[in-house]
Amino acid sequence: MRKYTLNIYKDLEEASRAAANEVVTVLQRAIFERDRATLALSGGSTPKRLYELLAGDPFRGKVDWPKVHFFWGDERPVPPDHPQSNYRMAKEALLGPLQIADDHIHRLKGEERDRNAAAEAYQNEIAAVLGVSAIGEPPVLDVTLLGLGEDGHTASLFPATPALLETQQWVVNNPVLKLDCDRLTMTPMLINRSANIFFLVSGSQKAKPLAAVLEGPVDTQRLPAQLIRPARGKLIWFVDKDAATGLSKQQKG
Ligand code: 6PG
Repeated sequence: MRKYTLNIYKDLEEASRAAANEVVTVLQRAIFERDRATLALSGGSTPKRLYELLAGDPFRGKVDWPKVHFFWGDERPVPPDHPQSNYRMAKEALLGPLQIADDHIHRLKGEERDRNAAAEAYQNEIAAVLGVSAIGEPPVLDVTLLGLGEDGHTASLFPATPALLETQQWVVNNPVLKLDCDRLTMTPMLINRSANIFFLVSGSQKAKPLAAVLEGPVDTQRLPAQLIRPARGKLIWFVDKDAATGLSKQQKG
């Protein structure tokens, strides 16, 4: 039985607010314990409201934001000012409004032509910030945020792509044939070391993949989000009612 907490909310606003509360709690504790916190952001459109909430009252005033280091779970092969850039969305919704210093923003350089070099450089950057060797066991990020694609992908771990089988690197360039592009992505071995993994899932179009991931047979090549099983950390799904319609009665409580 996979261990996770499933919280179902009226809508994306409520789910985002609940997730913001949880993110703030974890960041506050990390800063209290180690005077630093690490947060890996997810891309796509779902987390935008969460980022806006974190950048505004009351959440803005609850975290010593200059002590938070920001990373990305994945990035598209576009420059940072591109409308499709995960960095750009987070910069506009969260990092800019919070006036986060550049040295605490660790951008995954999706636009780099040498994509393996970009992935390696990012792994080295994560290691340097977390104060660990870049060739040892992956470090523990305090919070990793994730979304769920309609095909069951998360981060840029798409069905039947090489990154699903990666057991050495924490960050890789992942060729995604169906998108006809390469994506840079954290691998399951890094994500699963996180102390807290929060999925934020909204909308009826996610009902089928969510039910398949949580209740269907394990088939990680077809449903890569099933690879997300934290070793020791907490896994919480923040979903809205529309996304939860495919779940069994007992899941819904
Ligand atoms: C990305 C994301 C990806 C996203 C899902 C859901 O770069 O697209 O990292 O994993 O979380 O595709 O995207 P939406 O929130 O837009 O539905």
